[in-house]
Amino acid sequence: MKLLGAGLAWSFTFQSSVVGFPTLQKRESNTATPRNVIYVQTFTDSAGNWFNLTDLVTEQSGITHVILASLHLDSPTQIHLNDNDINSTYWDPLWPMVTSLQSAGVKVSLMMGGAAAGSWARIATDFDVYYPEILSILRSHNLDGFDFDVEENVSLDALVKLAQQLDTDLGTDFILTGAPVATALVNEGNLDNVSWPLLDATATSSTRPNGKLFNWYNTQFYDGWGNAGTPTTYENIISAGWDPSRIVMGVLTAGREGSEWVSLSGLSSTISSLKSMYSDFGGISAWEYGGGAGSSDGVTPEQWVATISSYLFY
Ligand SMILES: *[C@@H]1O[C@H](CO)[C@@H](O)[C@H](O)[C@H]1NC(C)=O
Ligand SMILES: *[C@@H]1O[C@H](CO)[C@@H](O)[C@H](O)[C@H]1NC(C)=O
Ligand SMILES: *[C@@H]1O[C@H](CO)[C@@H](O)[C@H](O)[C@H]1NC(C)=O
Ligand SMILES: *[C@@H]1O[C@H](CO)[C@@H](O)[C@H](O)[C@H]1NC(C)=O
Repeated sequence: MKLLGAGLAWSFTFQSSVVGFPTLQKRESNTATPRNVIYVQTFTDSAGNWFNLTDLVTEQSGITHVILASLHLDSPTQIHLNDNDINSTYWDPLWPMVTSLQSAGVKVSLMMGGAAAGSWARIATDFDVYYPEILSILRSHNLDGFDFDVEENVSLDALVKLAQQLDTDLGTDFILTGAPVATALVNEGNLDNVSWPLLDATATSSTRPNGKLFNWYNTQFYDGWGNAGTPTTYENIISAGWDPSRIVMGVLTAGREGSEWVSLSGLSSTISSLKSMYSDFGGISAWEYGGGAGSSDGVTPEQWVATISSYLFY
């Protein structure tokens, strides 16, 4: 354990080992708020040593959801999680960690897309070729959800079709999330040509929570698309008609992850305001764990996540 310069999360972490976090209750329902979600895209350090995702549980970070990123459909025979084939033995250390997280009550999803384009175009044009591969990955690793990070042009119909088919094959408890940028929820700046309000209005379901195929949106409040330093971006989204329980504020875990990183003390203030304005505030999703989460605040990744939990749950 490291000494904390600012003493930021320390008393909290100590206390948490006594009282414990409400992680297990959180897992019982896909509508429970707030959520504490973290993406993982960097799985090893530069020497190839695996980061141990189980630390999120053993150090009682209060995490509720982990999203593995990023799946890429390169060709029918080449489906990658980042730089390695999803079926490669390279990923052998990952799957037991996924199982440990799940045993501790954390839900684990898979994200497709992100900055590298092509996957969404391919599922749109060759659904029957790629869909069975996606389904097989989700089933064989017993994953709990699929996150749509659409950063290329694709038809709205293709997104609805994929969401509907996953719901049909994996059931109403399977978590479907989107990762639009904040401005896209109010039909302003976008990384794709989809109207997210129209998509959400179209992607309905009579059997899923809120009558919607998508459980919630891990919305990007950084890189020029929104800002988590004040409640304004979030308030604008809610004013446009979105339900706060379905809008999770996406933030950066450290300055190196992108532009408009906000410190823990800044996030504390925004989260506190949003909680007082919206009793069903959807929570925080963070990009990302392994690239040095907490490094700009002088804390470890687990301490960063635990500190977010302290703002969200207490
Ligand atoms: C992660 O830590 C757990 C103990 O908390 C250990 O059992 C497991 O082997 C570790 N996994 C990796 C990949 O280091
Ligand atoms: C991965 O392995 C599964 C199970 O053996 C197989 O069905 C699938 O086609 C493989 N996917 C790729 C892209 O090789
Ligand atoms: C978005 O792009 C896709 C793929 O090029 C196209 O099929 C669709 O019609 C476009 N939608 C809009 C609203 O422009
Ligand atoms: C995506 O669609 C938008 C709006 O329809 C258009 O302005 C943009 O040029 C398209 N991008 C690509 C890469 O086709």
